[in-house]
Amino acid sequence: MTTLSIGSTAALSLRADVLVIGSVKGEDGAVLAAGSESIAAAFDGRLTDTLSALDATGAEGELHRVPTFGAAKAPLVLVIGLGEQPADGFTHETLRRAGGTVARALAGVKKAGVALPLTGAEAVGAFGEGVLLGAYSFETYREKSREGRKDAVKDVVLLGIKGRDKAAKAAVERAAITAQSVNQARDLVNIPPNDLTPKDFAAIAVDTGKNAGFKVEVLDEKALAKGGFGGILGVGQGSVNKPRLVRLGYTHPKAKRTIALVGKGITYDSGGISLKPAGSNETMKMDMGGAAAVLGAVAAAARLGLEVNVTGWLALAENMPSGTATRPGDVLRMYGGRTVEVLNTDAEGRLVLADAITRACEESPQMLIDVATLTGAMMVALGNDMYGIMANDDTFRDAVYDAATRVGEQAWPMPLPTDMRKQMDSPIADLKNMGNSRMGGGLIAGIFLQEFVADGVSWAHLDIAGPAFHEGEAGGYRPKGGTGVAVRSLLQVAQDVADNRI
Ligand code: BES
Ligand code: MN
Ligand code: ZN
Repeated sequence: MTTLSIGSTAALSLRADVLVIGSVKGEDGAVLAAGSESIAAAFDGRLTDTLSALDATGAEGELHRVPTFGAAKAPLVLVIGLGEQPADGFTHETLRRAGGTVARALAGVKKAGVALPLTGAEAVGAFGEGVLLGAYSFETYREKSREGRKDAVKDVVLLGIKGRDKAAKAAVERAAITAQSVNQARDLVNIPPNDLTPKDFAAIAVDTGKNAGFKVEVLDEKALAKGGFGGILGVGQGSVNKPRLVRLGYTHPKAKRTIALVGKGITYDSGGISLKPAGSNETMKMDMGGAAAVLGAVAAAARLGLEVNVTGWLALAENMPSGTATRPGDVLRMYGGRTVEVLNTDAEGRLVLADAITRACEESPQMLIDVATLTGAMMVALGNDMYGIMANDDTFRDAVYDAATRVGEQAWPMPLPTDMRKQMDSPIADLKNMGNSRMGGGLIAGIFLQEFVADGVSWAHLDIAGPAFHEGEAGGYRPKGGTGVAVRSLLQVAQDVADNRI
């Protein structure tokens, strides 16, 4: 595990394996960024010459390693490109990405000192968050293939930051708490579905609650049957791994408002009787990414002691085909009494969410956000890097978008056209679980969920099907596999509510 700290030692005398400095784009090639002055002086101009000989440009993400040959205690300098030098300082996202790229480049290193232009506590926090997120990789299942793989960098010391700056220290602490939650969400997504059943997930939630200081209640299949949770039970009934509904409760004595977070937790989505074809099911262990994000956000809110009540709901089930599975054509009696005709058992996320949303609304939160890897259609619309935000309240939707943007999670507002509701009229039940065509499938799913939101609750729905799982190579602070997307957005929304910004 990587630890991050603030150090007061001068860069040149720091006993470290690597010193990290920045470069920016100049007229003809890379120019050293602020923070590197003492190191540049010790090199007596040869550092810039070396970068020029290496054809360094200072482009964002560019990396160069230069030996110090005794100019500093550390034997090596790592130069990270930061791109154009903005007049008003680097954006937090530039620093976050630089942190991630640096962390990966430092794999195998014990101790690194960082002398970058980190001005202000927020910049320190952003870079630090990037380091701790970029250092992540999922190694749990490597045995023989672990050989030769480098451990994550152990100690990263941020230099040149006012030693007793309380705000900077708090930002580092906050970055550590945030990254811990995001990395746990990534682990949960990456754990294969044979080792993460609904019961396993619920047990991890119980542990997390003990460690972070929030209440956890688990409804097992018997309690779900007693309570009439027909949506969650209907989706889970084809699997030997029985479903769960988990309630997470974090409260602050001075909190004035409550926000409920509801996560889709399909530990594996085979499609059920409407089976997905080969090629579409290999990554469906990711289908609990929404629930993982909710657990992470509640844990971070609790660890940070935010002045807001946060309730989390994890709707956990495994969607499998079998003799006991829900059939296309079955009608489910949902929690709260509505009936839903299931025409496609692969549209299962909305069924488990509907029960959880109804249940969450019984506690009358002011706000409710659900998070789900809900539709392939949202991926078609927005691609793999961005999630869609739908809401019953434009102001709230914009606030969620704003929070997401500030933390560097890409998202975009999508509409909920009321006209589309009639596509889900059922000839025999209150509602069917899909529309008439694939067109606008992401919006249809959102409109379905809206049916279950109580009046007076500001609700937003995040469809994270695209960005929840990254099939490409790691880049910046985003790893391969589970990304932990939405943890930071949800946490920022909770913070904004605590700060009365929302
Ligand atoms: N879990 C999937 C959505 C998904 C697809 C997430 C790809 C991540 C990557 C969801 O349960 C699903 O199967 N949705 C269907 C709905 C359809 C049957 C109405 C879809 O999008 O095809
Ligand atoms: Mn599905
Ligand atoms: Zn699904």
